[in-house]
Amino acid sequence: MTDKTATLGVDGNNHVFPILEGSVGPEVVDIRKFYAETGMFTYDPGFTSTGSCRSAITYIDGEKGILLHRGYPIDQLAEQSSFMEVAYLLLHGELPKKDELDKFVYTISRHTMVHEQLATFYRGFRRDAHPMAIMCGVVGALSAFYHDSTDITDPEQRMIASHRLIAKMPTIAAMAYKYSIGQPFLYPDNSLSYTGNFLRMTFGVPAEPYRVNPIVENAMRRIFILHADHEQNASTSTVRLAGSSGANPFACIASGIACLWGPAHGGANEAALNMLREIGRPERIPEYIARAKDKDDPFRLMGFGHRVYKNFDPRAKVMKETAEEVLKELGVNDPVFDVARELEQIALNDEYFIEKKLYPNVDFYSGIILSAIGFPTDMFTALFALARTVGWVAQWNEMISDPEQKIGRPRQLYVGSPQREYVPVGQRG
Ligand code: CMC
Repeated sequence: MTDKTATLGVDGNNHVFPILEGSVGPEVVDIRKFYAETGMFTYDPGFTSTGSCRSAITYIDGEKGILLHRGYPIDQLAEQSSFMEVAYLLLHGELPKKDELDKFVYTISRHTMVHEQLATFYRGFRRDAHPMAIMCGVVGALSAFYHDSTDITDPEQRMIASHRLIAKMPTIAAMAYKYSIGQPFLYPDNSLSYTGNFLRMTFGVPAEPYRVNPIVENAMRRIFILHADHEQNASTSTVRLAGSSGANPFACIASGIACLWGPAHGGANEAALNMLREIGRPERIPEYIARAKDKDDPFRLMGFGHRVYKNFDPRAKVMKETAEEVLKELGVNDPVFDVARELEQIALNDEYFIEKKLYPNVDFYSGIILSAIGFPTDMFTALFALARTVGWVAQWNEMISDPEQKIGRPRQLYVGSPQREYVPVGQRG
């Protein structure tokens, strides 16, 4: 807490607002009484200066390129921890002790199967449906199957729903892929790791045993950790907003998936690889750089720029290293990686990108790794959703337990017509 205040003078009257202090990061002006005090609203489309909640989960310093989960730097987690440890950390606030981790892994693995009836949902989709379209529908439909974990006032039910979502997401995503290629669904194998099980359900077939490649398993572990949470981004804020009305967790996560799909957010990994493939060879890069800089061209360099990072996205660094490793170890020689490296160098030395502080973000290199592993581009965002589910449920739980939580209900600057009289259709001029 701080005694500091901010004073706003309006028409000769001074209004005083408290300043709140977090553990690190910028202080915030508490404007909850702003309307009552001044009769005015504040205006901040895109929430560029507005904090929507208190949170103790993730901290980002965009100027320095720092990302911490519960205080732990992302590169240390990506290097040393398992995805289950990170999930536990985000949900519970501390790294688990050995017995806590064992119990958590056991619990998650006991929830990996989906209701058998859920498989029939897939058959209602076209085979060429985008996996994110399927994910929105199927995850939303979970609320019709798991009534016993939809009472959001019961902390135990909330935790069961969270475990179910974390556990079932790989099964649901893998089924979306299998459906698209016309192969049978595979049941989970709980003897494998979270990522190993997902790889098997995606790339295995019932006719043969599947051997999990440890290099690929490790790459997926890192990718999942790097996507696990990112404080109040658009999809997380969507989950919180949906949840603020008391909606059940499955419906809330489905809303997060819908938001994530957009190319300015999670859809950028798919868009970035498509862009790199379209560029095709380093000689064509200047043409695309020129387009990105052209105000009259809506084209943007996908995988570049970030609302918060005005420095290197720390996730992009780890992602680039992982891409180098995976391509080398799998013996994949993808020319798109040369295009990406060259494009990154050219953009980082270009005045436009320097001045606007545009750096590669997490999505710039992730597609190259996923493609090398064998995922089609339209699965990329589904994998992002799978990993981000951990952050979404952690943030949703935090919101529900916050005594200051209220239904999210923004105000507006109304610019439409003032009140006027209805004119019957025959009398309209
Ligand atoms: N290429 C070219 N110019 C860009 C780019 C880009 N990728 N990103 C931002 N700019 C320019 C933009 O035109 C604007 O210029 P000006 O000030 O002259 O109008 C300036 O930089 C600031 O951009 P903004 O759109 O006002 O910034 P924002 O914070 O609203 O948007 C962003 C952030 C991530 C949506 C944007 O940088 C973008 O569209 N990037 C490409 C899509 C992308 O890679 N998204 C993934 C984000 S990270 C993972 C995730 O969130 O899921």
